[in-house]
Amino acid sequence: MTKKVFVTHQLPGARIHDLARYCELNMWMGPGLLGVENLRQELRGCHGLICLLTDRVDATLLAAVPDLEFVSSMSVGVDHVDLSALSARNIPLGNTPGVLVDTTADTAFALMLAAARRVVEADNFVRQGNWTQKNAWAPDFFTGKDVSGATIGIIGLGQIGQAVARRAAGFGMEILAWNRTSRQVPGVESVSLEELLQRSDFVSLHVALSDETRYLMNAERIALMKSDAILINTARGGIVDEEALAVALADGHLAAAGIDVFENEPVSPDNALLSLKNVVVAPHIGSATTLTRGKMADIAVENAIAALEGRPMIHCVNPDVYR
Ligand code: GLV
Repeated sequence: MTKKVFVTHQLPGARIHDLARYCELNMWMGPGLLGVENLRQELRGCHGLICLLTDRVDATLLAAVPDLEFVSSMSVGVDHVDLSALSARNIPLGNTPGVLVDTTADTAFALMLAAARRVVEADNFVRQGNWTQKNAWAPDFFTGKDVSGATIGIIGLGQIGQAVARRAAGFGMEILAWNRTSRQVPGVESVSLEELLQRSDFVSLHVALSDETRYLMNAERIALMKSDAILINTARGGIVDEEALAVALADGHLAAAGIDVFENEPVSPDNALLSLKNVVVAPHIGSATTLTRGKMADIAVENAIAALEGRPMIHCVNPDVYR
């Protein structure tokens, strides 16, 4: 029997063009994102799903698709999928680690430099015609904070955290890290979370979102940070208590933040963080280069093809389903 696969978005990369050889393929052509109700309807009778991190694959959806045999997500993070509901049905979940490591670490550094050196504020200043003879170069004009030689605290020393550490070494930074299970990386000092927050000039988040890490950066932990420190989040919005962060930034308890991810995406225009000049934001673009997105799509398709051929996925989040 030919298996039916639904893809929730048009995908880049080369491998997507081969997928129709392995299955009956149906793809959402937009415009925009699919939405919960459309996903439920389109997935009816399907054996496979290739989705994005914007598609919520929860227990309610899964209950409506009894024939589903695999899910392949074009993302490294899988917090949009109910993993235990999938595993309970022995459905493998594929993801796309590895290929986005350097791209995401670059984004963390871009936000770090932008927040520390007030790049967005300066750009707006010039474009709005505020750079005048009266308001020009002066010893304290647009002064920011040095990245070079500062101390960075990396929360989560997985592949992306380690890639951030390599970049930090190039900037002559002192590198601290905290990981749930202790991990020794040359040039990186392993410390407790509390010590990391107290000593770091920059704190960069690189843990996955889970029940253990939700609101890891709560008001209490934010209060442990230095008042001239900068927080960078390219991981997941739910790791930070956004309201507590906005209060700390507005009160001068933190110097600045660089935020690529929000608890609810797309972020609401009235999110308090957006009203603060000392916050640099981006719309979840950590892995957004043409090359990397193509590689991620290719892996997502490879995972699906493996499942269609009855092989284990190349990158499977719940490999226990194969036992
Ligand atoms: C991006 O956030 C991803 O999880 O791939």
